[in-house]
Parts: sequence; structure tokens; C-alpha cells
Amino acid sequence: MTDDELSRLADGYRAFVREAREESPAYSALAAAVAEDGAVLRFVADLPAGKRQPNLLFASLRFLGVVPADAAALHESVMTDADRLRDTMLARSTQTNEPARCAALLPALAMIDGPLALIEVGTSAGLCLYPDRYSYEYDGRPVGVRKDVHLRCTTSGPVPVPRELPRVAARIGIDLNPLDVTDPGDLAWLRALVWPGPVEAERLQRLDGATAVVAEDPPTLLTGDLLERLPDALELVPAGATPVVLHTAVLPYLPETHRAAFVEQVRELPVRWIAQEGSGMVPGTGERYPGGWGPYFVLSLDGRPLAHTAPHGGRIDWLPVA
Ligand SMILES: C[S@@+](CC[C@H](N)C(=O)[O-])C[C@H]1O[C@@H](n2cnc3c(N)ncnc32)[C@H](O)[C@@H]1O
Repeated sequence: MTDDELSRLADGYRAFVREAREESPAYSALAAAVAEDGAVLRFVADLPAGKRQPNLLFASLRFLGVVPADAAALHESVMTDADRLRDTMLARSTQTNEPARCAALLPALAMIDGPLALIEVGTSAGLCLYPDRYSYEYDGRPVGVRKDVHLRCTTSGPVPVPRELPRVAARIGIDLNPLDVTDPGDLAWLRALVWPGPVEAERLQRLDGATAVVAEDPPTLLTGDLLERLPDALELVPAGATPVVLHTAVLPYLPETHRAAFVEQVRELPVRWIAQEGSGMVPGTGERYPGGWGPYFVLSLDGRPLAHTAPHGGRIDWLPVA
């Protein structure tokens, strides 16, 4: 890797310093340390493109049992455990599965006549396929009978908070590598992907609750690329159900041409389409941010932007109704 490429890699870590600042001061500080540590940067640079993200590096360290306390501890951990760390980063991917995103999806789901056949592309372990099995609170206003997984959400603007939970007739997930909530290794990886910080305990509790829900009544999981498997998923939609293709935090992982082909395919299918993605990832949903991740996500229905949301759920700012 040239000096220029190393410097771009360091810049990527510097961008993560800002991204993680609030939710994980520890990861924010570690990202700053990586950006200044030539040996660690070269270790990361030797991995294939797509395997160099801060999230993957830090989750892999955590999976191996370490959250380095400072720059020196980070350097030591990477240098002394380089082989296992490299193997973990090569074997695993960033597959953070955050059920709290369902609180942002719920108002959009409620705008569609049910029963719904949910087809989630980039589903990870499928935790966002169960919006009807969680309970909610929007600015203190409850929706659904209280469940183990209870999702709180603050709002602004005219959010159409539903009175009822959606009726879900089918749950179908597509992923390059679907995670299995009954597999201890996959469960440990899902937990390792949660950032250390002020909301960590809450997120882990939610994750454990949601994986228990999924384990009790597993979804249909299709392995493969979202474009290729979408037709197979549509064939599984039961008669009388409305097919809803949905995705959250997936489009930045697709190369530009692949993303455009996916958007074109979904637009042509006889489905409703809900996206919760970085601004501009779906055409017409705002300004694009470098790498696809900005300070907020945009919730859209059939390509029409409805709201800005916190990337991990938890906040919805409804856009003025045109
Ligand atoms: C950050 S995770 C998001 C998981 C889930 N949607 C959520 O919001 O909690 C992104 C997921 O997209 C999957 N993914 C990335 N590219 C994909 C592709 N081309 N086809 C199918 N899945 C893909 C990854 O394997 C990963 O599980």
C-alpha cells in the first residue's frame, strides 16, 4: 500500500473518531490511536479491502476478549495477537443487528395494508423481522402490550405513531451470511459488535431479548446476494399478504453499480419498499455522506423520504408533509 493509501486509511479512522464520539468514547479514542500508529495501520492495510473498517477491527479485538484501554494497549494487543486477530477479521463481517431500528420502521409499516410479508435484505440474524413481537414507547406513549424487548423512541414533527402493531404473515431474510441466533459463535459475534459505552448495557439487554424472540420462532433465512435472492424470497410470500422489501444499514456495503441495480429492481417489483439508510443512499433522500454513513438515517417508503432517524433507532424526526 502506498503512503497515500495509508493516509486515506488513517483518514477513515479519523472520521470514525467523530462517528463514535457520543456512543463510544472508548472506540473514538482507539480510532484516533490507530490513525497515528503506523504499525497498526499497516496491519489493517494488509487486509483485503472491505476488511479494514474500525468497527470490524474493534469488534474482532472484543471477540478475542480485549477492549484496549489506551493507544499503548491497542498497539500491544494488535502486535502480540496479530494472527488470531487477522483470522477473526477475515472470517467475520460487520453485521451489527439492532432491533431498536424497528421503532423507526413501525410508522412506515403502519402505512401499508396488511397482513405483511416482510422481506428484509441484509438481515444479519433477522432481529428486525419481528416488529410485531416488540413493544414501543414514543415520547412515553405506549404501542403494544409490554414485552421483554421494549423500544423507546423520541420524536419530533407529525410522526404518525400507530395505535396497533402490524400483522406479519411471513418473515423472510436475505443475507450474504445469515447469522444463527442458536449458534454460540454467532451470538458472541453479535454481542462483540455492540460498542462499549453509555448505552452498551441497554443494547446488550435488547439484543439478548430479541435473539430469544428469534430463536423461539425462526424466520426463513436465504443465503446469498440480495439482488440474486429477491426473486426466491418473493416466491415465498403467502397469498393475501402484502410483500414489503425492507432494509436498514445495508446499502453502504454495496458497490455503487450494485446499489443502483438493486434500487432499479425494487422499483419495478410489485412490492412496497421501506428503507432506513444513510442520507442519499436511496436516490432522492438527501445529501450523500462519505462512506454512506452520516449523522442520521433517512426513513423512506417507496423511495419517498418520510423522516430522519437516529442510525440505531431511538429517535424519529418526521419531515414536513408536502
Ligand atoms: C450492518 S448489517 C445490518 C443488519 C440489519 N439490517 C440491522 O439493521 O440491524 C448489514 C448486513 O448486510 C449484509 N449484506 C451486505 N451486503 C449484502 C449483499 N450484497 N447481499 C445480502 N446481504 C448483504 C451483511 O452481511 C450484514 O449482515
